[in-house]
Amino acid sequence: RTAYVNGAYVPHSEAAIHVEDRGFQFADGVYEVCEVRHGVIVDLSRHLDRLDRSLSELRISWPMSRAALIHIIREVLRRNRVSNGLFYLQVTRGVARRDHVFPAKGTPPSIVVTAKRTDAAAIARKNAVGIAAITVPENRWDRVDIKTVGLLPNVLARQRAKELGAQEAIFVDADGMVKEGAATNVWIVDGEGMLRTRPAEHGILRGITRTTLMDVAKPLGLTIEERAFSVEEMLGAREVFVTAATSICFPVVSIDGKTIGNGHPGSIAQNIREAFFDVAE
Ligand code: PDD
Repeated sequence: RTAYVNGAYVPHSEAAIHVEDRGFQFADGVYEVCEVRHGVIVDLSRHLDRLDRSLSELRISWPMSRAALIHIIREVLRRNRVSNGLFYLQVTRGVARRDHVFPAKGTPPSIVVTAKRTDAAAIARKNAVGIAAITVPENRWDRVDIKTVGLLPNVLARQRAKELGAQEAIFVDADGMVKEGAATNVWIVDGEGMLRTRPAEHGILRGITRTTLMDVAKPLGLTIEERAFSVEEMLGAREVFVTAATSICFPVVSIDGKTIGNGHPGSIAQNIREAFFDVAE
């Protein structure tokens, strides 16, 4: 496997970042994860637009032009022979002696791009049987709309889910309203068959899969309402599913040990997943 690190393509096993990198020391960086399907990068321009927003919110400069970055992404995919999988890209504020304030102007941002093939069988299994989730109290900062590499609450939440036999943890705010998963956005299908997801103006990441799913749902005749919903509404929903570039759309069949719907993946989640790639590509 090959990775791209700060100007060079290197063997993945030797790919390294300096100990003084601000991503390592302060989680002072941002990232994107993007799905690749049949050799096509799904929603690339939306992911790069969000990268642009994350960088500008943190006042980190682009490490190179957008065109150059696309070239590198494609080269990393090619060198790793990934036509179905994903790539990961991370940009940090660069390498400087440890000091909380920004480094001197002109310090180049660090950039890393890696790629891997996905386990199609594992994904198919999750789609066929659905996943289990738990709820956890929101304990992240209020700028989770920025896709930073500071993911410790997400890591702890996912680990807790795993230890309880679940695959995702769903953050819930102080009012008992659902926010998002540790690495996914959350959707419900209500009794009328209407899709609901929390507005992305504040308090969650505006998922690219979430945005594209809205494009997908319309031609299927589905109505979407961007409105927050409570844990009770979620537990009583006809269907619950989570979306992310890594999984597209996984049905959730149990939450905190309680069965959702009839305990099997719902038809709406399945229809959306099947329609997704026609629109996204
Ligand atoms: N996570 N919410 C959070 C907190 C996320 O970390 C992610 C994605 C999403 C979904 O966003 P998108 O549809 O753009 O992938 C929502 C990535 C995949 C990750 O951390 O691996």
